[in-house]
Amino acid sequence: TPLPQQPPPSRPLLAVAHRGASGYAPENTLAAIDEAHRLGARTVEVDVQLTSDDHLVLMHDTSLDRTTDVAEVFPGRAPYEVADFTLAEIRRLDAGSFFGDEFEGEPVPLLAEALDRLHVLDMNLLLEVKEPELYPGIEHQIAVELARRPHWLVPNTPGESHRLVVQSFDWESVELSKGLLPSVPHALLGRVPQDRIDEFDWAHMINPNHTTIDAGYVDSVHAAGLEIMPYTINDPEVMARVLDMGVDGFITDLPDVGQRVIDEF
Ligand code: G3P
Ligand code: CA
Repeated sequence: TPLPQQPPPSRPLLAVAHRGASGYAPENTLAAIDEAHRLGARTVEVDVQLTSDDHLVLMHDTSLDRTTDVAEVFPGRAPYEVADFTLAEIRRLDAGSFFGDEFEGEPVPLLAEALDRLHVLDMNLLLEVKEPELYPGIEHQIAVELARRPHWLVPNTPGESHRLVVQSFDWESVELSKGLLPSVPHALLGRVPQDRIDEFDWAHMINPNHTTIDAGYVDSVHAAGLEIMPYTINDPEVMARVLDMGVDGFITDLPDVGQRVIDEF
C-alpha cells in the first residue's frame, strides 16, 4: 500500500489574472500583464503557441481572427491559423483594437517579451501550452527560452507563491515538459478523475473548470499532495464558494475582484 502523500505546503491564496487582466485589457498582451500588475495581481496566466517559423507567441485561439485584425491585413488567408503565419506577419497585427480603441496597435507579444516584462514587474507566471499536438517540439522550445532566463527556473522557497507553473489540457505534453524542466512545477488542466489522481505524482497542481469540482474533489487533490486552482471565475459568489471548498486560488479575468474576495475570506 503506498504511503499517504503529505498535503501541499500552505501558500498565499491566489487570484490569478487570466490571459493577463483580460476583463480590463486585451487578453494575452503586455497591456493585460501591466494592468494585472496595476491591480495588484501576483500571478498571470497566459497561453503560448508557435508561429510557422517557430517563434513562441501569446495567443489563446489557434486562429488569429477573434483578437486581431488579421482578416483585414491578410485577406484570403482564412482560417488564419497561428501555425500558418510567420512572426513578422503576426507582428503587423493589431491585437488591441478588438477590446477597445485605446489599445489600438497593441502587438501580439513573444513569450520572451512576456517573461521579461513579468520579471521586471516581479510577477509570477502560469504558462498554458495551448494545443501542443499542433506544435510538435513546443515543450522543448519553451525549455530553451526559459534556459536563457535561468531566474525563472530557480525553485521556490516553501510557502512562497510559485514563480512559474507550466500547464496544459494535454497531460502527455505536461509530462514531457516536466521531464525537460524538472525544477518547474507543472499543472494538469481539466478534471483528472478522482481514481486517477495518484497517477500524476510528478505534477504539482490540478486546475479544473470550477463547474466540475466540489469539496470532496478538492480534498482528494490535496490528499495526493497536489494543489488546485479552478478556472475561470468572475462571479464573487462563486469565488467565495470555491474558497470554502478549500482551493489554493482561482483563475479570473478580474484579479482585483478576486483579491477582494480573498481578503474578505
Ligand atoms: O488557466 C486555465 C484556463 O485558461 C483554461 O481555459 O480556454 O481560457 O485557456 P482557457
Ligand atoms: Ca489559458
